Parts: sequence; structure tokens; C-alpha cells
Amino acid sequence: MEYNVIQLDNYYSVGIESIDEQHKQLISMCNNLYLNSCKRDEISKNFFNQSISSLADFLKYHLFVEEQLLSRVAFPEFHSHKEEHSKAVEFINRYLAYLGTDEESQLKKEIPVIREYILKHITVSDRKYANYIHTMNRYTPWHMKDSYLPTEIFLG
Ligand SMILES: [Fe+2]
Ligand SMILES: [Fe+2]
Repeated sequence: MEYNVIQLDNYYSVGIESIDEQHKQLISMCNNLYLNSCKRDEISKNFFNQSISSLADFLKYHLFVEEQLLSRVAFPEFHSHKEEHSKAVEFINRYLAYLGTDEESQLKKEIPVIREYILKHITVSDRKYANYIHTMNRYTPWHMKDSYLPTEIFLG
């Protein structure tokens, strides 16, 4: 599969800065994994194995953060969105299972597929909840804006 290193620009933005930053981080991790997967030396191999695990960990953290946000704003499609997240975790875990097996080289070939999967979730599903938050925010009385449905969230 052809792979173009892409930058997560405004086209992919959901308009919530902290979420956009995490999405950028995910895509940048995929790009680095891909670039590293083309190298054959031992250091690159170890780096690749660590990086794919870091991607999985960061993805899980990101999905958790989103679920906290969606629950807080009572997103009507919370359950189906969460279901998609569970599928994403299953999806990445399937690839992680290749590590240390004869199928490891297969995993390297699948990095573009993993990135596509993440990008599709961002542009279709995440955009839906972001639109909901932006719409709700627009109709929130000004004096409640800081405490209710903030466009920006601070994640500790
Ligand atoms: Fe997301
Ligand atoms: Fe999501």
C-alpha cells in the first residue's frame, strides 16, 4: 500500500484543541512507525516493537479521554461511539499479537491500514461528537459557558 506521510492539518481538525493535539500525536506515531518499519537493523526492530506498544497505549488513553468527555457532555450517541472505541482496541490488539512471531513482518506492512483506521474514526465519528459539542456550546447561555460544555477541556 502506498504511504504518504501526512500532517494532521485543519482538514482533520475537530475544533477542540486538546483532542486535535492527541489526534496529531497518534498520526505522528503512525508516521514514525512506518518510516522505521522500512529499516532492517536490530535497533530499528526494537524501536519498532516499543513504538507499536506505545501507539497502542496512547490510543487507549486517548479513547478513555474522549469517553470521559462524551459522558460529561451527555453525547446522545455515547454508547455507539464507545462501541467503536472497543473495536479499535480489538483491532490494534490483533496487530500487537503479531509481535515476536513469524508474522511480525506482516505487522509492518499493516501500519498504513492502522493509520487509515484511526483517520477514518477521526474524520467520521469524532467529527460527529465535536459537531454536537460545538452546537450545544453555541446555545449555552454565556454565563454558563465556562462551566458547561467547554469547547476546550483540560485533561490532567
Ligand atoms: Fe479521537
Ligand atoms: Fe473517538
